[in-house]
Amino acid sequence: MRCDHTPAWQALQTHAARFKDFDLRPAFAADAGRAAGLSQSAPHVFADLSKNHTDPATEALLLALAGQTGLAAHRDAMFRGEPINNTEGRAVMHWLLRQPPNSLPGALAEPLAQVHATLDAMLAYAEQVRLDEAITDVVNIGIGGSDLGPQMAVLALQDCVLPGKRFHFVSNVDGHELAAVLKGLKTQSTLFLIASKTFTTIETMTNARSALAWFQAQGGTEVARHFAALTTNVQAAAAMGITTTFGFWDWVGGRYSMWSAIGLPIAIAIGAQGFRDLLAGAHVMDRHFQTAALSDNLPVRLGLLDVWYRNFLGYTSRSIAPYHSALRRLPAYLQQLEMESNGKRVDRNGQALPYGTSPVLWGEPGTNGQHAYFQMLHQGTDVVPLEFIAVKKPTHCLKDHHELLLANAIAQAQALMLGQVDEGGHQHFTGNRPSTFLLLDELTPASLGALIALQEHRVFVSGAIWGINSFDQWGVELGKLLARDIHARIVSGDVAGLDGSTAGLLARVRD
Ligand code: F6P
Repeated sequence: MRCDHTPAWQALQTHAARFKDFDLRPAFAADAGRAAGLSQSAPHVFADLSKNHTDPATEALLLALAGQTGLAAHRDAMFRGEPINNTEGRAVMHWLLRQPPNSLPGALAEPLAQVHATLDAMLAYAEQVRLDEAITDVVNIGIGGSDLGPQMAVLALQDCVLPGKRFHFVSNVDGHELAAVLKGLKTQSTLFLIASKTFTTIETMTNARSALAWFQAQGGTEVARHFAALTTNVQAAAAMGITTTFGFWDWVGGRYSMWSAIGLPIAIAIGAQGFRDLLAGAHVMDRHFQTAALSDNLPVRLGLLDVWYRNFLGYTSRSIAPYHSALRRLPAYLQQLEMESNGKRVDRNGQALPYGTSPVLWGEPGTNGQHAYFQMLHQGTDVVPLEFIAVKKPTHCLKDHHELLLANAIAQAQALMLGQVDEGGHQHFTGNRPSTFLLLDELTPASLGALIALQEHRVFVSGAIWGINSFDQWGVELGKLLARDIHARIVSGDVAGLDGSTAGLLARVRD
């Protein structure tokens, strides 16, 4: 049943009307068990949800909503490999990429065997590149899911990255980006990875052709040694002259693909065992999502909270604050994950929705954000739930830094909640501002895998409640189509039939 037609939805609306007077401070004072009741340990991740605008009664109603919308059945359909990406007629099986070998019977046994055959080949290649001292620079050319995941993970795991190799990520069609990277490279010491699920994306194809042209113009010869393609479309790669290829499958969405061949830069950076640990960390979170009771299921609790905030309390955005500089690309990664998955205005049957879906996701690492936009979080007119992500143990031994970092994260969460009284004055903080605190013991391949799988599944949960297809992205197509037309017009100068603004801009850039 569509969420807004369920009794739980009506009950949540009534509950929300009463909830407008909810205040975190009396809620803590009245309930000594609040922090424990609204905290949860999941594999590799501890979550304190207690500074959110929620309480056990709200959680109970949200769980009823999950029950009435068939969340568990939808989750189970994904894990059975059913084609839940209904607009493209595809299964959604990024989770299969982290499933241990020979662990599934029936129809999924064969795809799982293929996953492991490809993984073994890719990891053997990664080890070979790691041992090859002549290769000092690895350049990943890809965009969106073929860029953000590998880039985020290589940065996050920088302490495990093999010394002696540099990693570069080129995504933008803006030639300034590729040109700046090429400037510092030599053909004989560079490996280009052309990462594109479809091998048709204009940015990646343009950058790949330019990289090949540069390689040949510089006298480079062995394309098979210096270029590899990571794609579901190995024919298109071969047509470009790239014969070293690692494939994957159409049931892996671009933004869910860092576990596939798209993860090759990660595997080269942290090694085969590191990559297997990343997969294993994600797998334990998959098992948690699949098997924990919905009331003790962290992705479920986070996803339901997202629905509560979006549809009942009217919070339209979520800010991400990783208090770890190595996680600095995590907000960008999560932005694509949430907004490309759940930024939909129709349900799975194409019917327009009367309720909101994806929040706006944004953020920067702490403590930097504190000195930039936290002002608005503390004293602005909008309530923005903030998600802290902190790591208990540092990998450096610089005195005082980590304690100061963690103190700031905890203090910010506290300040947002407590506020400060200066009635009518500029130093008045209303407080009662919500936040979630996620804590990892250490930032390792396994804990990163678990954190990312947690985020994938929480996006699944809110998308399932909203009744949308979280696994297509038709919204990116119109801009691609029009860019092709405008590109032809920039070359020809033809402005016939264009609106005044577009024609004017076109004329101006050609001037
Ligand atoms: O245009 C959006 C998109 O299709 C994303 O979903 C995807 O991650 C990105 O482009 C890159 O696509 P590809 O890997 O096929 O080049």
